[in-house]
Amino acid sequence: MPKLTILRYPDPRLHKIAAPVATVDERIRRLVDDMLETMYAADGVGLAATQVDVHERVIVIDTSEARDDPRVLINPEIVARSEEMRVSDEGCLSVPAIYDKVERHARVTVRALGRDGQPHEFEAEGLQAVAVQHEMDHLIGKVFVEYLSQLKRDRIKTKMLKKSRDEDAD
Ligand code: NI
Repeated sequence: MPKLTILRYPDPRLHKIAAPVATVDERIRRLVDDMLETMYAADGVGLAATQVDVHERVIVIDTSEARDDPRVLINPEIVARSEEMRVSDEGCLSVPAIYDKVERHARVTVRALGRDGQPHEFEAEGLQAVAVQHEMDHLIGKVFVEYLSQLKRDRIKTKMLKKSRDEDAD
């Protein structure tokens, strides 16, 4: 069981805007640890605090093969983006079993605070660049399905609502 409950699309709370973290204190470190545990348990490559109904700018990511390279991004900002764009298949722990193509910047340079509250900066590419942009969208209330056509989004909504009804009936 994941430690925290992950909100499912189309839950309106997924569209809340996250506030910056004022201080990286014990409460935030506990949130980070719980989010990492939840992300690994759900076998995801990233999780934003928004998805666990905490509306503060906190993201965890691990795009390594071995799942042993957690990245903690608090108050993340993208400071540079490549002109080059890339389309790849995306999924989301809040939209289980749905995958579709989204276009993103191929590389982004990110500045954020770590779990220790210290600022760091790194360039992300490939899957990591996708994850950073996808998770940062969550912090502004945006779910990846919003990049898809209205028709596809409506289908996904219907599917998700049916799925949660079926689960409630169990
Ligand atoms: Ni997501």
